[in-house]
Amino acid sequence: MQHRVSLTQFLIGEQRAGHVSPDLRLLLEVVARAVKAIGVTISKGALAGALGEAGTENVQGEAQKKLDVIANEILLQANEWGGHLAAMASEEVETVHQIPFDYPKGGYLLLFDPLDGSSNIDINVTVGTIFSVLRNPQEKDKDPSENDFLQPGREQVAAGYAIYGPSTQLVLTVGNGVHAFTLDREMGGFLYTHPFMTVPEDTREYAINASNIRYWESPVRRYITELQQGKDGPRGADFNMRWVASMVADVHRVLTRGGIFLYPLDEKCRAQGGKLRLMYEANPMAMLIEQAGGAATTGRERILDVVPQRLHQRVPVILGSRSEVARVTSYHGDGAASA
Ligand code: AHG
Ligand code: MN
Ligand code: MN
Repeated sequence: MQHRVSLTQFLIGEQRAGHVSPDLRLLLEVVARAVKAIGVTISKGALAGALGEAGTENVQGEAQKKLDVIANEILLQANEWGGHLAAMASEEVETVHQIPFDYPKGGYLLLFDPLDGSSNIDINVTVGTIFSVLRNPQEKDKDPSENDFLQPGREQVAAGYAIYGPSTQLVLTVGNGVHAFTLDREMGGFLYTHPFMTVPEDTREYAINASNIRYWESPVRRYITELQQGKDGPRGADFNMRWVASMVADVHRVLTRGGIFLYPLDEKCRAQGGKLRLMYEANPMAMLIEQAGGAATTGRERILDVVPQRLHQRVPVILGSRSEVARVTSYHGDGAASA
């Protein structure tokens, strides 16, 4: 039997190398345990009564699916008692989730999108969980405020996602490259299968919801039109398109075989600042992509440099292979940034 390194062995190695503290290691182990539990419920689907609407709305006015609520509960409960966290924030919770007073508080803040790709749950297509870890800037015994969470993404100490696809994988960075682990369902553990993932610099594949074309700004419309013209256009090459509509699945493809992913600013989402959430979607994905050698921008600014104003703030997202991200960014700088 082939010997594989477990997630625990990997994290102990990172701790010995000085890349993670003991508390951060515990935090990542607990997140891994929680996503395993979420994956079990997802894989049972209708058998667990887990499909369909919850009949409630989250803070962003979006209808919650049962699995949004279940995944959120699993993550909150798993992370409350270990003593590694000062507080949590979630897509599904309006304000900061404080650690109950009877548990000790730790030095980290955990943010998450418990269930990414909710529209794909009921059709049995890949979904995920995205998370981001920041340091708590407050003194240990004080309850952190929303303000304490509002740190730019470059301050993240760890970021990752779980992807619930044909196999369940955990993709992780602690600032020392991107590493993926595959869940061994029989043994119940994550095994190290993809060391130092890299995004190829060039690509011939893009991901965007093209039904929004009439809402796009001119730099994005120009960029995508040129890709669609293929061999007959200025790029002189054909490009392929994929759109799963689960950010986790689309970004995982980019991390695995290259590509560019865009959810740009458009007239439909302009008032909100974008579609995707900065603190628990854009920032962790931007850290992973940069750690894998790619680039991530709003079109006008590096995502990891955006200074957040609100917990649930939204931003435009363009990320992936460096050469393509650089090209779209340059189009934004061509003075044609208005719609
Ligand atoms: P969530 O399910 O957490 O609300 O996120 C959905 C996001 C993201 O996963 C995906 O890239 C995007 O919404 C898809 O949006 P469209 O339905 O507009 O294509
Ligand atoms: Mn999401
Ligand atoms: Mn979600």
